[in-house]
Amino acid sequence: MEIGSGMGDVVSLPCFLGFHNVVGFEADPFLADVANRKVEELFARKGVVRNEVFPCERSFRPDVLVQVNCVYGNGLCDKIGYLERLKQWYALAGKPAYYVLEVIDDSFLGEHADYPEFLRVNANDIARAFPDSFIRMIPTYSYPANKSSKTIYVIEDSRCRRTLGHLYIIRHSREGGNLYA
Ligand SMILES: C[S@@+](CC[C@H](N)C(=O)[O-])C[C@H]1O[C@@H](n2cnc3c(N)ncnc32)[C@H](O)[C@@H]1O
Repeated sequence: MEIGSGMGDVVSLPCFLGFHNVVGFEADPFLADVANRKVEELFARKGVVRNEVFPCERSFRPDVLVQVNCVYGNGLCDKIGYLERLKQWYALAGKPAYYVLEVIDDSFLGEHADYPEFLRVNANDIARAFPDSFIRMIPTYSYPANKSSKTIYVIEDSRCRRTLGHLYIIRHSREGGNLYA
């Protein structure tokens, strides 16, 4: 499940990898339509991207929650509120086994109209917000080569790590994909 699918590039990846149940949420109707056309043309799947704002009324219980290139501070005024929202959305998605979350890094000190200081976080913030987790981090953008600095955190429920570890290895060796590559 992806929050903030935009034009569907990221939600296309699990479709490409052969995941059966894929759903994206996109608030903008035009973008949701573009994404759905793309996914349908590439993978012959209809209506993968729902034109809805997450969280929505119907509950989904994904194994993997993806939220990348999707940092917004609307309705928020401090970092505590931002981290609480991330935790709340993770909980509303049923605390999936994997949460692939991209955030703005607090090493980024430049001015940015969309990313006020309270929307910038570090590994300690993420570790405190998701205490029962095994967390990996992957830097994705770096200022000044990019307009800001971003990091993807792969937040893995430590209980699922024990029970799903074997399944994950089987999937990896059979399909050759590696979520952490
Ligand atoms: C910058 S785009 C990124 C799209 C995609 N994740 C990617 O990396 O290609 C972020 C999108 O998230 C959508 N969005 C933001 N908050 C959302 C929410 N709560 N529910 C659904 N869509 C949301 C915005 O409308 C925007 O199109």
